[in-house]
Amino acid sequence: MSSLQSNVTQKQYRVVALPGEGVGVEVIEAALRVLDRIAELQGFSVQVDRGLIGQPAVEIWGNPFPEATAQLCQGADGILLGAVSQGGLLELRKRFDFFANLRPVRTFSTLHQSPLKSEKLAGVDLLFVRELVSGIYFGPAGRSIDAEGAYGFHTMQYHDWEIRRIARVALQKAQARRQRLTVAHKQNALPHLPWTQLVREVAADFPDVEIEPMLVDNLAMQLMLRPHHFDVILAGNLFGDILSDLGGVLVGSIGLLGSASLNADGFGLYEPIHGTAPDIAGKGIANPLGAINSLVLMLQQWGEQTAAARIQQAEAQLLAKGYRTADLFDRPNEILVNTAEYVDRLLEEFILP
Ligand code: IPM
Ligand code: MN
Repeated sequence: MSSLQSNVTQKQYRVVALPGEGVGVEVIEAALRVLDRIAELQGFSVQVDRGLIGQPAVEIWGNPFPEATAQLCQGADGILLGAVSQGGLLELRKRFDFFANLRPVRTFSTLHQSPLKSEKLAGVDLLFVRELVSGIYFGPAGRSIDAEGAYGFHTMQYHDWEIRRIARVALQKAQARRQRLTVAHKQNALPHLPWTQLVREVAADFPDVEIEPMLVDNLAMQLMLRPHHFDVILAGNLFGDILSDLGGVLVGSIGLLGSASLNADGFGLYEPIHGTAPDIAGKGIANPLGAINSLVLMLQQWGEQTAAARIQQAEAQLLAKGYRTADLFDRPNEILVNTAEYVDRLLEEFILP
């Protein structure tokens, strides 16, 4: 095929990269190298537009989520975000109504960093579905003063329709997986947020899915005691934030976990679950897998299943060969690599027989 013809038939995507702060910058650099190579191998093309969010945006625009960044994201095929320490992220999520946050957690038998017993961890494969644009993060909030002095408040508020729409996403995921949906709730203390009843209503359209309501405190404990029990876990914004960090305990490092946040049109924001990690930022040693796994979720969302599978396979092979960034390194026979070396090895895996 001539290059002209292949240009005509080649699929084209536009990605907005928002590295943010701290290790966000390093892991996005890493993920973009992987994206560039996999696009070349799989025969699609990607235009990457870089934008500012968080502290770097404050420095230039005086705003952690400036309108220029919002405009850049508009109409893109996906947003790849690194990390921000404060400011910018919630505004971005809200702006595009990225209400459905998907956080898959799968354990690797080749990793031994989790403090939990390895027989408990074998084959754990679960998915957190977290509501991302409502709840206590976005409810009425402020500081005020009364007779007892100054006070602050944040309000956990959900419209029933907001619970129903995230329930539908979780039910669809559960139906396509192992048909179990655990619903995190706290109805013994927060009876006006009837997650269980609302999910059950929507579940009438999904008769195959078993609904398992679980008090969120007990759920946190059960996740550590019998993680293999779970398939899809549905939670509101705050509970989902807290519970999904426990996924990091299961796999051995939060540095491995990626996420996708989708709106109703399927447009998405893809970001690692970890934060800016100021203790290791700028050293080039951060684990790029959280960002790379977020990239995998973006490719899956695009329907580029082969590209996604190739990255996942290369990742698993690399872990099996013992390559570890510092957060995962714990045995003498393992090979300690920095972020850039890790990506070098990963790209090599693509072409090995
Ligand atoms: C996450 C983060 C964010 C959240 C912070 C940075 C606001 O912890 O994505 O899990 O709480 O949603
Ligand atoms: Mn979090």
